[in-house]
Amino acid sequence: METTLIILKPDAVQRGLMGRIVTRFEDKGLQIVGAKMMQISQQLAATHYEAHKERGFYAGLVKFMTSSPVLVLAIRGNGAITIARNMMGATFGSKANPGTIRGDFGVSNSFNLIHGSDSPEAAERELKLFFAAGEVLSWPRAGDAWVYDMSGGKAE
Ligand code: RTP
Ligand code: MG
Repeated sequence: METTLIILKPDAVQRGLMGRIVTRFEDKGLQIVGAKMMQISQQLAATHYEAHKERGFYAGLVKFMTSSPVLVLAIRGNGAITIARNMMGATFGSKANPGTIRGDFGVSNSFNLIHGSDSPEAAERELKLFFAAGEVLSWPRAGDAWVYDMSGGKAE
């Protein structure tokens, strides 16, 4: 099982899209194992996006991410990192395919609604940045027996 860090960005929260976006992950069968609203500090935004420090869009990105509250989620499932990235769609709202979160809910290239970890290494790093020990929970979900085929001894 993989766990990925998802952030519903300030535009998603301000536009009242939290519920509809969370529902998409739940509908898919992914499990919400951590959730909190917060206003991201300059320091946390800078650390989170440090790979983009030299890029022209970096200052605007940090300003946007710290401008208003976000909803931070830890989402778990088999292949959750790639599944969530595919559900998010391409980075730019103008390019993202219909059926994806960015494709269905936005047109902007900077206000693109959602962040998702892009690799297992990124997920591990980002989950530690946003969640303290004990804030990501492991809990048996009542419906799991019908989300995964467990007949072979592991989740398929
Ligand atoms: P994210 O990290 O937020 O999940 O988005 P991503 O992987 O799809 O895109 P990434 O390349 O990591 O870029 C991070 C965020 O920076 C903004 N961006 N602006 N104007 C530009 O050329 C540009 N490129 C990226 C977007 O908000 C993107 O989500
Ligand atoms: Mg990224």
